[in-house]
Amino acid sequence: MRIAILASNPNLYSNKRIMEAAIARGHEVDFIAIKNCYIDITASKPEIHYRGGEALKKYDAVIPRIRPAATFYGTAVLRQFGTQGAYMLNGPIAIGRSRDKLRTLQILSGKDVNIPKTAFADSPLDTKNMIKLVGGAPVIVKLLEGTQGVGVVLADTNKAAESVINAFKSLKANILVQEFIKESKGIDLRCFVIGDKVVAAMERHAAEGEFRANIHLGGTGHKAKITPEERKMAVKAAKAMDLKVAGVDIIRSKSGPMVLEINSSPGLEGVEGATNKDIASLMIEHIEKNATLRSRKNAQKKVKV
Ligand SMILES: Nc1ncnc2c1ncn2[C@@H]1O[C@H](COP(=O)(O)OP(=O)(O)O)[C@@H](O)[C@H]1O
Ligand SMILES: [Mg+2]
Repeated sequence: MRIAILASNPNLYSNKRIMEAAIARGHEVDFIAIKNCYIDITASKPEIHYRGGEALKKYDAVIPRIRPAATFYGTAVLRQFGTQGAYMLNGPIAIGRSRDKLRTLQILSGKDVNIPKTAFADSPLDTKNMIKLVGGAPVIVKLLEGTQGVGVVLADTNKAAESVINAFKSLKANILVQEFIKESKGIDLRCFVIGDKVVAAMERHAAEGEFRANIHLGGTGHKAKITPEERKMAVKAAKAMDLKVAGVDIIRSKSGPMVLEINSSPGLEGVEGATNKDIASLMIEHIEKNATLRSRKNAQKKVKV
């Protein structure tokens, strides 16, 4: 098959591993840098051009690895691959949704997936009530589009929570307020989902004195055993978001597991390192199964017409 990896940096561990795995399985692979693409939107012959003027050939499948800062343009280019008929290992709508924590939580709550009690308000007039709604301090305040733990703040008292929330609001930042799951003790669970399976899971342990378990903040990954309930929850959450590949972050609370967020371009380095699994190859295998199925279905459709 002809496979494109749509991303920004070919030297990232995840991108290198995906390319390696695709080549090892006998596919033709191109790294397509999002910023070098420009698109020609015309009826019946949509094209993607690459810096220098060449029109890209058609691909059987595209693996989007769009970093958060490139979401808008990256998903536009991905849509263009989609209109050309490529199988997308995560579609543009699902990626867009996953980039907004509030939208993600609303989708999950609509599908009865357990999440921490969360509130959102526009006006500072509602701040006090919003804090009350999630059970009072300590609370977590989160930027809707933050990543790598940077926009996640713990406020110990109601007063501190009010100041943080109103300060974010005065900067016009969109935030949500969430109950703090104290009993997780700085540990969360990253479940790597491909299709309808959790293919690997790791616990992330926050660095000393830190409640955020993000690897970028010094957290460490450890191979994890997950319960059948957690496994089911991760698959259900990915499905609710319409993601074929997803990093589902789960926190263990005293009332059971809860989904914190879902990543549509989950990194491979931490999870392959912690579990010794070849996740890159499993991603390519998923494409082999599903992209072929799709073209067979299309072929059948053509026959019928
Ligand atoms: N409600 C919460 N209670 C306890 N810890 C939390 C809560 N929300 C987030 N955390 C911790 O902070 C980390 C980062 O939060 P997350 O929502 O995943 O944002 P980011 O997109 O920045 O990773 C989580 O991995 C978890 O360790
Ligand atoms: Mg996270």
